[in-house]
Amino acid sequence: MTDEDLSWVVENERELHAFPWSEGNFADSLRAGYNCWVMRDEAEPVAYAVMLTVIDEAHLLNISVARTVQRRGIGGKLLEYLSSEAQRAGAIQFFLEVRPSNTAALALYERHGFVAIGRRKGYYPAADGRREDAIVMRREL
Ligand SMILES: CC(C)(COP(=O)(O)OP(=O)(O)OC[C@H]1O[C@@H](n2cnc3c(N)ncnc32)[C@H](O)[C@@H]1OP(=O)(O)O)[C@@H](O)C(=O)NCCC(=O)NCCS
Repeated sequence: MTDEDLSWVVENERELHAFPWSEGNFADSLRAGYNCWVMRDEAEPVAYAVMLTVIDEAHLLNISVARTVQRRGIGGKLLEYLSSEAQRAGAIQFFLEVRPSNTAALALYERHGFVAIGRRKGYYPAADGRREDAIVMRREL
């Protein structure tokens, strides 16, 4: 992901998430040197992800596939790519958080070997000022 991708990323982020990251959040991630990726089909962007690798741990912060091309294996491919990148950087464990209501993401993660290891109470903002727990998942690399 580069600065040139940000308008496409932010447009999709707003469409795909009830509580989207701002353009500033993505720009900060780029500046901070997080692993920020855009996946392309030919020249067309189809998915993006942000991952943070610290010593021997990788943390998935965002993974999103454009709505019109979901359920074609793109999310899974990107997740496997991130896993291999994390491994290459020396990570031996891959962590992520997910909303219990996000059944598509939960199914994707379980299918790719992530196992629930705990819950963070009220971690996410939710509708009407409420909060939603996060399920913490881990996969060994
Ligand atoms: C979650 C997400 C990234 C999945 O991407 P995708 O490209 O559609 O996923 P894949 O096609 O690789 O799916 C792999 C498997 O995940 C599961 N899965 C994916 N989407 C699903 C859905 N809507 N319902 C149920 N299971 C689903 C299935 O097991 C699927 O395998 P199958 O199609 O053979 O049954 C995509 O739905 C998305 O971008 N959602 C909005 C953003 C988001 O919530 N991101 C995660 C939190 S940051």
